Amino acid sequence: MTNNIQNDKFFTDHDYDGIQELNNPSPYWVLFLFLGTIVFSLFYAVHYFGFPNNGRDQISEYNKQMALAGKQSSDQGPSDMMAAAVFTKEQMAEGAKLFTEKGCIACHGMKGEGNAIGPNMTDKFWIHGCKPAELAKVITDGIPEKGMAPYKSMMTDAQIRSSVAYILGTLVGSNPPNAKAPQGVECK
Ligand code: HEC
Repeated sequence: MTNNIQNDKFFTDHDYDGIQELNNPSPYWVLFLFLGTIVFSLFYAVHYFGFPNNGRDQISEYNKQMALAGKQSSDQGPSDMMAAAVFTKEQMAEGAKLFTEKGCIACHGMKGEGNAIGPNMTDKFWIHGCKPAELAKVITDGIPEKGMAPYKSMMTDAQIRSSVAYILGTLVGSNPPNAKAPQGVECK
């Protein structure tokens, strides 16, 4: 089909059943931008999805984030206090003193062997958890309904840490006479 304005600079020579295309190309800068995005997408796809084992694909990123989150949550909260269960001699000595001074011996025995009231602190069995932070929590908040008093208003955090150090570092495994039968779950 011919058209007398076919060659007009306003139309291209594309003609579909009389429907003509305006000669209105996009400016070069738009074209280059468009081509640029295609080139960029190739780089992007290879870098973030395709390149084998570069650790940048979604599954690797997910695993990295999960590992990080796991590490952060175990670094936070009450367990933070005892995250590194390294007890110094000074802490253990202070804890020993506190064990008498704060009256722990009344319910846990002179040597932590336990008595009719409180459990044995020298075996590997624990009612409220194995971790230093869990012991610290029992001392801090107590188990009032079972007769274990909360010490948070009577001891500083450092003193509570020292008590845990004494219990885990000195008492556990000390095998005192008349030790009370184990209670709770054995901790490795
Ligand atoms: C009035 C008695 C009493 C006094 C004083 C006392 N406790 Fe306890 N304690 C208990 C009882 C009873 C339990 C067991 C609670 C339970 O069965 O849930 C306990 C449990 C604990 C536990 C957890 C044991 C486990 O198996 O999980 C720790 C740790 C502990 N006491 C430390 C101390 C320290 C340190 C002191 C002194 C600062 C102290 N207690 C003073 C009665 C006492």
